[in-house]
Amino acid sequence: MAHLLVCIIGYPRESMIRALYILTCAVLLLAAGCGARSNAIPPSTGPAESPPTPDPQLVEQGESVYARHCAECHGANLEGEADWKLQNPDGSFRAPPHDANGHTWHHSDAQLIDAVRRGGARLSADVGGTSAMPAYGDILTDNEIAAVLDYIKSTWPEDIRLYQWERTSQ
Ligand code: HEC
Repeated sequence: MAHLLVCIIGYPRESMIRALYILTCAVLLLAAGCGARSNAIPPSTGPAESPPTPDPQLVEQGESVYARHCAECHGANLEGEADWKLQNPDGSFRAPPHDANGHTWHHSDAQLIDAVRRGGARLSADVGGTSAMPAYGDILTDNEIAAVLDYIKSTWPEDIRLYQWERTSQ
C-alpha cells in the first residue's frame, strides 16, 4: 500500500518518465503482493509442526509396563534381539528394537496400537515368517498400551518423533 501512495504523490508530468514511473510502481506492487502471499500461514489441514510432548506420568507408567511385558523380547534398553534382522531357524521373526535403530517409528499410532493389541496374529500369511509376539488386547488396558507407546516414543530423538507424528497425522 505504501508503494501506491508514493506512486500517486510523486506522480511526474513528462509522459516518458511517467510511463517508466507507472511501470516501476506496477513491479513494486506485484513484488509486495508476492511477498505477502509467501508469508501466508499454511492451511490448517496439514500436520502439526511438532509432536505432542509425552505426559511424564504416562511415560513412567509405560516404563513399568514395558519392563513387565516387553523387555524380555525387545530388550531392557529397547535394543531388540541379537541379529534381529535375521529369522530364527523355525522361520519366526526376531523382536526388533524399539529405539531409533528399529522401524517402530516408521508406523503411525494406529498401526502401533494394532500391533500391540493383536501381536504376531495380525501378520498375514504372505509376510514370509511368523511372530511369537503375544496379543495384548486382553492383557493390557487401552491406557496401558498408550502408556507403553508413549514411553517408547519418549526415548526417540526429535527428528524421529516428528517423522512418526507426521505418519500419525496423515
Ligand atoms: C515373545 C516375544 C515378544 C514380546 C513379549 C513382545 N513382543 Fe513385540 N514383537 C515381537 C516380534 C518377534 C516382533 C516382530 C514381528 C511382528 O511384527 O509381530 C514384534 C513386533 C512388535 C511391534 C511392531 C514393530 C514394527 O516396527 O513393526 C511392536 C509395536 C511391538 N512388537 C510392541 C511390543 C510391546 C509394546 C510389547 C509389550 C507390551 C511387546 N511388543 C512384547 C516379539 C515380542
